[in-house]
Amino acid sequence: MALSYIHIRTYPNISHSTRASVKQGSLTITPVLVDHESAFGAEIAGVDWTQPVPDELVKQLVALQDQYAVLIFRQTGLDNQRHIAFSQQLGEQEINPFFYGRQNDRLGEPFLFDVGNICLDGSLVQKDSRRWHHSLGNALWHTDSSYHQHRSKYSILLSHGSPVRGGSWTHFADTRRAYNDLPEEKKQQLEDLVVEHDLWHSRKLASPVVYGNPLPHELAAKPPAFHRLVQTAPDGRKTLYLAAHAKQIVGWSLEDSQKLIWELIMHCTQDQYVFSMEWLQGGDMVWWDNRQSMHRANPYTETMTARDVRRSTIIDDGPQAHGVAV
Ligand SMILES: [Fe+2]
Repeated sequence: MALSYIHIRTYPNISHSTRASVKQGSLTITPVLVDHESAFGAEIAGVDWTQPVPDELVKQLVALQDQYAVLIFRQTGLDNQRHIAFSQQLGEQEINPFFYGRQNDRLGEPFLFDVGNICLDGSLVQKDSRRWHHSLGNALWHTDSSYHQHRSKYSILLSHGSPVRGGSWTHFADTRRAYNDLPEEKKQQLEDLVVEHDLWHSRKLASPVVYGNPLPHELAAKPPAFHRLVQTAPDGRKTLYLAAHAKQIVGWSLEDSQKLIWELIMHCTQDQYVFSMEWLQGGDMVWWDNRQSMHRANPYTETMTARDVRRSTIIDDGPQAHGVAV
């Protein structure tokens, strides 16, 4: 079931088609997925990224983030330091737990996660290397850091260099609208469920041969965490907190848990809830809220070209930030 999601594709809805824009102060907002009650994703123009972003504008952007869950900015021109500086304006940043010193990290910044496909020496990640197999899990639908007991809220992914047009996409799913459309009896069944999230579960799903048995230091770095399945999103709507990391429902068998979890992931990732964001230019940036969306990448391939994308992650400070003590 899960492995069928690891393939290269785009979805019928894409982020940069022509839609009606609205002006809000200095910003131009172009929503991506709009239905009669809500909107999901928006391209935002009008931020001057050459200067520190004023606090009032940060507030305005956070309000838009709460509404749309995924904000896309084109050609920001941000470098590592300004990427980090903007992230700091949004909250406390997560330190990359796999950062082993500046000399061992291509980006040399503990606040940035290297999620591209380039090695320290500039070569592309080799097929069948451990990093290759680790990355396959990112092609499953997920939310970042749901396997942390103190989870993250935002991820901010910035492209450097020039993506290959037509070849570089990130896909997003609206878990708020998907929850809303569930039948009432299903909502009642889900209401009080608590889910164990485990990074090594999604790695194993994506690459059972290499990650069937993670290494001891990997297991120690990322123990599982517990979170409610049904949560309240920042805009007040209910949402599903789901991810390929979701392993087992507390009190349920693994088999029954996986059946329900993947039934829900498939529900949330139907075409009407999903759009594909294309990376068009270096400097393109997408900022999403992991608490009210899911996302996935396309998997590495043997014919891929260099893709340099760097992520900052902001720790959740909301009411459900620490999950459930089990
Ligand atoms: Fe991710």
